Amino acid sequence: MPTANYPVSLKLDGCRVLVAGGGRIATRRIPRLLAAGARVHVVAPEIAPDLRAAVDDDALTWSARAVDPADIDGCRLVFAATDDSAINRELAVAARSRGALVQRADHAADSDFLVPALVERGPLQIAIASAASAPSLTRRLRARLETLVPAAYGDLARLAGGFREAVRTRVPRERRGAFWNRVFDGPIAEQVFAGRYEAAERALETALADAHAGLEAVRGEVYLVGSGPGDPDLLTFRALRLMQQADVVLYDSLTAPEILALVAPEAERVHVGKRADRHTLAQSRINTLMVELAQAGRRVLRLKGGDPFVFGRGGEEIAELAEAGVSFQIVPGVTAANGCAAYAGIPLTHRDFAQSVIFVTGHLQAGELKLSWPELARPGQTVVFYMGRRNLDIICRSLTTHGLASDWPAAMVIDGTTRQQRLIVGTLADLPARVAAEPATGPALLIVGEVVRLHDTLGWFEPTP
Ligand SMILES: C[S@@+](CC[C@H](N)C(=O)[O-])C[C@H]1O[C@@H](n2cnc3c(N)ncnc32)[C@H](O)[C@@H]1O
Repeated sequence: MPTANYPVSLKLDGCRVLVAGGGRIATRRIPRLLAAGARVHVVAPEIAPDLRAAVDDDALTWSARAVDPADIDGCRLVFAATDDSAINRELAVAARSRGALVQRADHAADSDFLVPALVERGPLQIAIASAASAPSLTRRLRARLETLVPAAYGDLARLAGGFREAVRTRVPRERRGAFWNRVFDGPIAEQVFAGRYEAAERALETALADAHAGLEAVRGEVYLVGSGPGDPDLLTFRALRLMQQADVVLYDSLTAPEILALVAPEAERVHVGKRADRHTLAQSRINTLMVELAQAGRRVLRLKGGDPFVFGRGGEEIAELAEAGVSFQIVPGVTAANGCAAYAGIPLTHRDFAQSVIFVTGHLQAGELKLSWPELARPGQTVVFYMGRRNLDIICRSLTTHGLASDWPAAMVIDGTTRQQRLIVGTLADLPARVAAEPATGPALLIVGEVVRLHDTLGWFEPTP
């Protein structure tokens, strides 16, 4: 069984389309067919008043009788929308034998195509489909998009459409993406949004002439963006906006595929690796690559897991940019400690149990865990260890050696905030063995403190079993 239908946007200008039936469904389908330039022929003994008005206006033709398979001849699409299931079925068979695509109003599974929910802004169309599995969900999404996509996007699409050919012939292919990005993200789009369409047209003409003459300002930029711990819903609006306007993205191994999928599809993707000590590109090479790309006029998205400034080497990466005079922006992300704690139902500083929280790394430096154990092994606080799985045994032992009870609560969250999240709750004494028995190998975070017990009452997230 296929898992999804194939989405297309059909050109129907001048094509014959048969609509069998003249009721509610036909009335709903026909206006868009007419807007697409289709020659619509309705066959039905009776038709709704709106359709009759369209017939009177010569917008469509109507045969006032029962439909006949011969009506399909010469048609590309057939809408079998009578209220008789047997007739719809017969039409579907006849349409297929004539090479036409058919939609049965009464039977999605016996249809060749489905009509998606649509958000329209001028020539811009956003179609939402669920292969008929959740029509009420697609309707909800449509309602949300209606409020999210500004009406002026239609004008912006119209403006871009009017210049598309000129840009194609006058701006070299390798600079075209960047040219359009400047149009959509800069003052030209702002003019359109402010209702100054003609001023926007003039500005676009000037920008085009400059680009043709190679005079446009080529200024790259780097966006150092925290993408959160895994769940794409935890991205910030700003992260998403910059992800969609970057020309090139540098991502590492922890970046969830669902998050990468939100980056502009035309952006070049560079995997720079980095998982614990396995680096695809050395850190110094990543730093210089960003500088080089930005100096070549690219908008570089450096996507970091969690927050760039929490055990993310974000500081080192931007130091080199600052030194080279490359402009950059930093977008904070939900760090793993916050994300995992929330999704595990463990409030890091519940005031009855912890007055402070400490984030530390459990990663060895020069073969050693250089941590201040007496400070970490104290009651009344929560300690979160990033990269703590490999040395879990040493960490738990060191904490008990320095004064915490062996039944002190501790939990490990693996693949936190994702559908694969695993939460292993135990004590300093037994957690290492419990974790060793866990097959999941994703990123893991250790939380130590009495707040861990609150998971029993505050746990809410149900990952996929
Ligand atoms: C190099 S650090 C990067 C931390 C990141 N900058 C942040 O703010 O979350 C990688 C470590 O973060 C933790 N981590 C990141 N994502 C996680 C997740 N989804 N679940 C559990 N731990 C995670 C793990 O301890 C992992 O080894």
